[in-house]
Formats: sequence, C-alpha cells, structure tokens
Amino acid sequence: MKRYGLAVELLRPEEISWGNGSCPDYAFVMCEHRSAIEGLRRWEEEGAMVINSARSVLNTYRENMVTLLSGTSVPFPRSVVVPTEPGGGGEAAWKELGADPVWVKRGDVHCVEPGDVVYASSSEAMAEALEAMAGRGITSAVVQRHIEGDLIKFYGVGAAEGIEWFHWFYHREQALKKYPFDVEELRSKAFEAARVLGLEIFGGDAIATEENEFFIIDVNAWPSFALFREEASERISRYLARRFLGR
Ligand SMILES: Nc1ncnc2c1ncn2[C@@H]1O[C@H](COP(=O)(O)OP(=O)(O)OP(=O)(O)O)[C@@H](O)[C@H]1O
Ligand SMILES: [Mg+2]
Repeated sequence: MKRYGLAVELLRPEEISWGNGSCPDYAFVMCEHRSAIEGLRRWEEEGAMVINSARSVLNTYRENMVTLLSGTSVPFPRSVVVPTEPGGGGEAAWKELGADPVWVKRGDVHCVEPGDVVYASSSEAMAEALEAMAGRGITSAVVQRHIEGDLIKFYGVGAAEGIEWFHWFYHREQALKKYPFDVEELRSKAFEAARVLGLEIFGGDAIATEENEFFIIDVNAWPSFALFREEASERISRYLARRFLGR
C-alpha cells in the first residue's frame, strides 16, 4: 500500500484500544471474533472505511451465512440451524435432511479448534457432536447435508459488479474424481454469495459432484490465500487503493 502513498501499520486486534483515538482512515481487516467486530463497528461509526465491513464479517458467522444464502440462487447444501442442547432439534434436523450423512458445524465462527466442524454418518454421531459442542459452551450449530465430490477452494477480490480477481484449485489431500463443472458459473455464484454477505475480499470451499453440479459449502472473510499469496497481495493492494483512494 506504501506505493499508493499510504502509511501502513500492522496491528493485532488485541493490541487495539478501540475508541480511544485509535480510529484510522482506512482499515483492511482479517479477524472474526465478536469483540473485534464490535471494535470495527465503532471505527466505522467514527468514519473509517473498513474492508471487509464489520457487518459482512458478522454475516459469515455460520448460522447467519446459512440464513442469508438460503433463498438466493447460490447452490448451498441444505442446512438446519439447531440449538446444541439435548432434545434441541437435532433429531428433527437429521430427518429433515433425509437421514443421510451430515456435517455438524458450530453456529458462530469458523473452525478454530477440533470438534468445531464434525462429519456424522449416523444420528447418534450427530447427537454426540452436538452434545460435545454444548459441553464447550457453544449454544447453536448448523447441521448440513454431506455432499460427495471433489473439494474445491476459491479466492475472490472485488465486488460483483467489478470482479478484480478469482482463483480456484482442487484441495490437495483427496482422491480426485475431476467431475466436470462450469467454472464460469462457480465464479459467478461465488461473487453472488460474497455480494449477499457484503464481502469484497473472500475465500471459500465448494464441492463438484458426480452430477456435474457444484455446491458452495462455505464462504469466509479471512482466507489464507495459500498457493497464491504473491498474486493475491498484488490484486488486493490494487483493489484497496481503488476503494480507499477512489483511483
Ligand atoms: N456439506 C459438506 N459436504 C462435504 N464436505 C464438507 C461439507 N461441509 C464441510 N465439509 C468438509 O469439511 C471442511 C471444513 O468445512 P467448512 O469449510 O465449512 O469449515 P471451516 O470452518 O471453513 O474449515 P476450513 O478452514 O477447513 O475450511 C471442508 O473443507 C470439507 O472438506
Ligand atoms: Mg472453509
């Protein structure tokens, strides 16, 4: 960003004393904890331009994402939000999803520790995963249909109207089937999902199936950009300069 005449300061969320004169003109953020999102909201109220916006990061919380993406044309696996407490609706969700294998995902943030995203091939395994989450103080979860196929990772920069950059690749550790799918459609649906959530810089996971369809299973605001760091950083800084400085 220095090449665009901007002074840059790198900070960890825990180093920031929000609201005490800390507000910058512009912020490019990668964090998703509630306290950091609250701090970013204050910065926005004080006039900072924050990318991705506080609201958009909150929208990627698992249960918010499920709600926002259902009812759009983004192909997203059928998912049900349930309380994790025993008798909280897991069994009904299992039946509603066709009594097929599912994934149980904590309802708030993405996977931060083991047990946050768990595969369950039986209703007993699902109940166990929910109970373990309840025991860790996680109150709600998303139960999502398992989709069989090739796991794809993608990254995007830009808004739906002005796509700056999009890249996808097959996740490495898998027995690839290479089911054909429409790459242009993946790009279009990934940007549609990002637009619905309000993200401008994002990553995600998708699965290409035997039926030559794909499902977007996850979108997040803080991808690693692994394999494409150099190229991505170039595109991101160019995009940020345009958004921050209007060039
Ligand atoms: N519905 C699903 N069908 C098939 N596989 C799934 C499904 N949901 C999750 N997975 C598998 O679990 C992994 C993690 O799920 P997800 O992306 O939703 O969580 P995450 O918190 O973003 O974790 P990660 O950082 O590993 O992507 C996926 O990359 C995929 O391998
Ligand atoms: Mg993911």
